[in-house]
Amino acid sequence: MINEQYFQEFPELKTSRLFLRKQELKDAASLQQLRSNEEVMKYMDSDKHNDLKTSEAFIDRNLRTYQKKKGFFWVITAGESGSFMGDIILHKIDRTNARAEVGYTLHPNYWGHGYMKEAMRAVISFGFHDLGLHSIEANINPANETSRALLLKMGFKKEAYFRENYYYNGKFLDSEIYSLLEKDFLKK
Ligand SMILES: CC(C)(COP(=O)(O)OP(=O)(O)OC[C@H]1O[C@@H](n2cnc3c(N)ncnc32)[C@H](O)[C@@H]1OP(=O)(O)O)[C@@H](O)C(=O)NCCC(=O)NCCS
Repeated sequence: MINEQYFQEFPELKTSRLFLRKQELKDAASLQQLRSNEEVMKYMDSDKHNDLKTSEAFIDRNLRTYQKKKGFFWVITAGESGSFMGDIILHKIDRTNARAEVGYTLHPNYWGHGYMKEAMRAVISFGFHDLGLHSIEANINPANETSRALLLKMGFKKEAYFRENYYYNGKFLDSEIYSLLEKDFLKK
């Protein structure tokens, strides 16, 4: 069901304003800037990147996950200038059920211009039409209203609310799970 060819040749994606390319070690400084930003990390429930080494290790892990055929890690760049804007990923690829999880972050300089909707549309379309997924999942901190609004705009439906199922930084946090089925995306 999953089209394995994309693990040989990384799928670069173009939209009208954006270019999504493979995350590489050269992106470490930009990713560090993004993932050390207080506003960006507010609901990410993962550690900030306090130095370049952390970002390099993060990228290295992502590259290895791609090599193991378990995920795709893109950086979002401006189509014209090539400037770094954020990242978007499809990971936790579950071949048995043709399902994966999407994750995304954008630098605050670019928030509110429909960029993530545009990037997600490209990644979801790739996931369903090229990779062969049947459904895509997203997991948010219930306080992350912007992320929820984005998912609902993309047609995701709420599937679950887990109470205190995620331990981070000394606290048990709630999670909300959303999903999009291929047939729902086609209807849009
Ligand atoms: C979530 C995030 C990626 C949204 O990126 P964005 O490019 O600003 O989003 P878009 O402009 O494409 O907007 C998508 C929808 O989200 C909603 N939205 C966007 N900004 C919003 C805001 N400030 N408040 C409330 N809703 C908002 C709107 O419904 C919007 O759709 P519309 O423009 O048709 O009304 C960005 O805020 C971000 O990187 N946040 C920090 C990282 C993060 O929390 N990632 C998600 C972890 S689960």
